[in-house]
This record gives sequence, C-alpha cells and structure tokens, in this order.
Amino acid sequence: MRKDLEQILVEFRQEVERVATDEHLKQLHGKYFSREKGVLSAQLRRIREIPVAERPGFGQDVNLLKQEMEAEFDRLTRTLADEDYHRRVEQERLDITLPAVGLPRGSFHPIKMVEQELCGIFERMGYSIVEGPEIETDFYNFGALNFPPDHPARDEQDTFFVAGGRYLLRTHTSPVQIRTMQQLAPPLKIIAPGKVFRKDTPDATHYPIFHQIEGLVVAENVSLADLKGTLHDFARQFFAPDVRVRLRPSFFPFVEPGAEVDISCIFCGGSGCRICKQSGWIEILGAGMVHPNVFVNCGLDPEEHTGFAFGMGVDRMAILKYGVPDIRMFWENDVRFLNQFWYVQ
Ligand code: DAH
Repeated sequence: MRKDLEQILVEFRQEVERVATDEHLKQLHGKYFSREKGVLSAQLRRIREIPVAERPGFGQDVNLLKQEMEAEFDRLTRTLADEDYHRRVEQERLDITLPAVGLPRGSFHPIKMVEQELCGIFERMGYSIVEGPEIETDFYNFGALNFPPDHPARDEQDTFFVAGGRYLLRTHTSPVQIRTMQQLAPPLKIIAPGKVFRKDTPDATHYPIFHQIEGLVVAENVSLADLKGTLHDFARQFFAPDVRVRLRPSFFPFVEPGAEVDISCIFCGGSGCRICKQSGWIEILGAGMVHPNVFVNCGLDPEEHTGFAFGMGVDRMAILKYGVPDIRMFWENDVRFLNQFWYVQ
C-alpha cells in the first residue's frame, strides 16, 4: 500500500483505539466514511491528480484501505455492543439467593391478645367461655343484678340508652352471669369476655368503650377462700409468681360480701412508688360472693347454691402488665404501637 494511504490507516487505527461511546463511534464513521466529507471519498477524488500510469495501483490501494477500515470499524462496533451488553447484565443482575423482602404481617390487636392470655389462664383452670349481647335490657344489666331502681349507675350520665330507652349498651359484663344462670344448670364455672360501654370522657385511663372479663362459679359450698385462692392463682400466672393478693371490703349490689381485689405493686414490689401512689398495692378487679337475690332473680334457690363472681378490665390489665401509658393508644391503631405486642402469645 502507498505510504500516504498507509499513514491514513495508522491514524484511523489510533482513533479506533480511543472510541468508547456510541456517539464517538458515529463521529468516527462520519469522519472517514461520509460520501461528501469523508477521508475515504477525498482519497477517491484524488485519482484525477494521479498520473494515468499509477491510477490502477492507486485505485487498488484505496480499495484495500477501504476494506481494512471497514473491517476495523465492524470489529469496533461489535466490541462496543458487547461491552454495553455486559455492562447492562452487570447492572441488572439479580441475586436470587438473597432472602425475599417480607410482607408486613397482620396480627391480633393487643387487647385481643391480652384477652386471650387472660381467658387462657381460666380455661386451664377448667372454666368455659361464654358470651352475651352488647345491647342489653335494664333487667339484665341492672335489675336482675340487684341494683335498686334509683341506683346512680342507671343514670343517663353513665349509660348509653338505645331505641328510645328500651335497650342500653351494657355497662359491664355482669349481665352474662344472669343469662348463664338462666340457661345452664349448676355447677357452673364460666368466664365471659366482651366490650362494655360507659359515657366516660376519654382521658389516659378512661374510654367510652372498654373490655371486661366476668367470672362466675356456682356450686355447693363455694367459699370466699375459694375466690381468693382462684384470684391469687390467676394473678401469679398473669403478673408474677411472687405477687401477693388482698381483698378489701367493697360494695357491689350483686355480691355479698363484695370486695375490691389488689395485687402487691408489680412496679415497686410493695415498697411504694408513683404508680401505686405509695400504697404498695394496685387494684385489679371487683369480686364477691353471689348475692342471694341474684340467685332468686335467676330462679335458683339461694339455700342450695353458693357462688363467687369477679369482673376485671382487660384494658387495665394490659396497661398494668405492659406499661401502656394511655388507654387511647389502643384505639389509635398506630402500627408502631401495635407491633410491640408480637411477643404476648
Ligand atoms: N361489674 C363490676 C364493674 O363493672 C365489676 C364486678 C365487681 C364484677 C364485682 C363482679 C363482681 O362479678 O363480683 O365495675
């Protein structure tokens, strides 16, 4: 090949070495292969200046140059496409051995979990679970439970009445005691979980809807000692093995005697703290021996039957055991709060 043409090939190859992008490749193509302005066309046009005798040789050399350059250019095009392909494969690489991203899992509401935890303790003691309606009559919610007609709890202030006063939203789970004694013959050992409703203004410890678990045992010769033993056993299982229990005399129309039940403070162990108001004790539920009038109202002979009953707030139990600062958090449904109860069950 003629020296001047060979020089063009050398320069072309040097430029090829430097091409890294498609854009650059296009420029190179234009510079060398364009019909009007390309280096090759310019060489072909030179033929007129070449002495006639040298023209055939020159023509062959330009053709050779053209073939070499085209081959070189094709190689370059393929290399670039190859590199691009590998780069994309690398970028889009999927590691199928990575663990999958888990979908968020739903779970029971904390109140439901604590309710199940509480019921489970009594079920293992041989209690059956029963349920009653949330919409009740005055008879089941108050009358049959020995509330006198003028008892303040019946007041509009506390009770949500519905259907023009014909019905009400139960203010406690105690009416399930009455329904159970009407329907099932003693001996009875039941617990009744459920929602209850009171016209309370929401604050850290009150909410107009909350949850209770009612307990009722009816049999021969049931004593206050049985009640205390049962509640102590329950408290040890739910709170801590070394928790102490005490009964303080109190009044509920449907029990006699009636008591409020305290546990030794689970926060300070009984020495006195802010939570137990320095008393060393925390109230957890109401209880007592079933009142003779309640047996009569259910068609049972009070001479023949004895029994105890108790009622506890599920929300309150959850608040105490899990250190929840505000009952309203159970209603906000903030998953950051709800997720923290995964370990309850
Ligand atoms: N029903 C009562 C309340 O809501 C709680 C209660 C107290 C239930 C004493 C009982 C009981 O069964 O014996 O405040």
